[in-house]
Amino acid sequence: MKLKANILVTQPSLPDLNDFIPYLEKIWESKWLTNNGQFHQQLEKELAEYLGVKYISLFANGTLALLTALQTLKISGEVITTPYSFVATTNSLWWNNLKPVFVDIDPDYHNLDPEKISAAITPNTTAIMPVHVYGNPANVERIQEIADIYGLKVIYDAAHAFGVNYKGTSVLNYGDLSILSFHATKVFNTFEGGAIISHDEKTKKRIDFLKNFGFSDEVTVTAPGINSKMNEIQAAFGLLQLKDVKNNIAKRREVAEQYNAGLRNIEGIELFKLYPGTENYNYPYYPIFINESIYGKTRDELYNYLKENGIYGRRYFYPLISNLPIYKGLSSAQINNIPIGNDTANKVICLPIYPDLSIKNVNEIIKLIL
Ligand SMILES: Cc1ncc(COP(=O)(O)O)c(C=O)c1O
Repeated sequence: MKLKANILVTQPSLPDLNDFIPYLEKIWESKWLTNNGQFHQQLEKELAEYLGVKYISLFANGTLALLTALQTLKISGEVITTPYSFVATTNSLWWNNLKPVFVDIDPDYHNLDPEKISAAITPNTTAIMPVHVYGNPANVERIQEIADIYGLKVIYDAAHAFGVNYKGTSVLNYGDLSILSFHATKVFNTFEGGAIISHDEKTKKRIDFLKNFGFSDEVTVTAPGINSKMNEIQAAFGLLQLKDVKNNIAKRREVAEQYNAGLRNIEGIELFKLYPGTENYNYPYYPIFINESIYGKTRDELYNYLKENGIYGRRYFYPLISNLPIYKGLSSAQINNIPIGNDTANKVICLPIYPDLSIKNVNEIIKLIL
């Protein structure tokens, strides 16, 4: 059974084009295209309210937000991080001339295993960069305890965690800084975009200097900054997108619940579990984990079978970052240091999930997997 149209792992949510025209007209009228314009300021304000955070600085994309977050805190030496993520997490360390030190993940929730962090700390360690992978909060309490003991900074790559709360507050309120991605594939998108969440005005100011070449006023450059500002078209689009984001997350939830119901009792398929204490989950991905000896097909056999039937899942996150040619020479990248990460990367497929994916199509995908 080949479905009529190919179904990709995701499809961006877009507002009605006519609703965007008045925003564009305002930009054309004002001729203010970038540099902290009206829409940029308004989006920072509305996002801070929506997310329940104190300070937010908008960026051109999430990768530049990561690079700038590391510069903001003047991180040096070695940074402990997870190999089970999108490659931008580790690349941001490399671009800051930092040495990534990979620590394994936990088998249940796929995030950095805090119990393995201490053994990886050296006198050169200055920070931990965990990821809230698939929007599932990392063990923020234990990570902070360890950071406090060793005097380390914590920067969360929260690219997937838009709107997610943990124990009554935004998960973005943990750590020293968190970054978000508003890439086209994310739950909330501004075509490309990103943000850094900070907790005090001084830090927010420093971030804002750094994303604008380091300028603190017309003639003063306080740091070797970069140009990573979000422009007015992205910001205006974000304001429009924000109106629909709750509705879009609710539709994602319906898709996830349909998959849960259909795939719950299949031997050899493990479903994604939410970390206890998670609230307002945002359903950014729908990962399943294949135990080939029980399921009877390898992960790649299932992945290719789905593809032959027009279903384009993605093996997020395979290959593991630590196995990429650029990083595999690091001593922390050795497979025996990361058994759970390697196992997880070899088992995972993310099934299609997006607000407009019909329940009929979800049921057809489930049938192919059964
Ligand atoms: C975990 C993670 N970190 C960082 C990024 C980079 O964000 P961007 O694409 O906005 O640069 C992404 C996704 O693209 C991601 O999934």
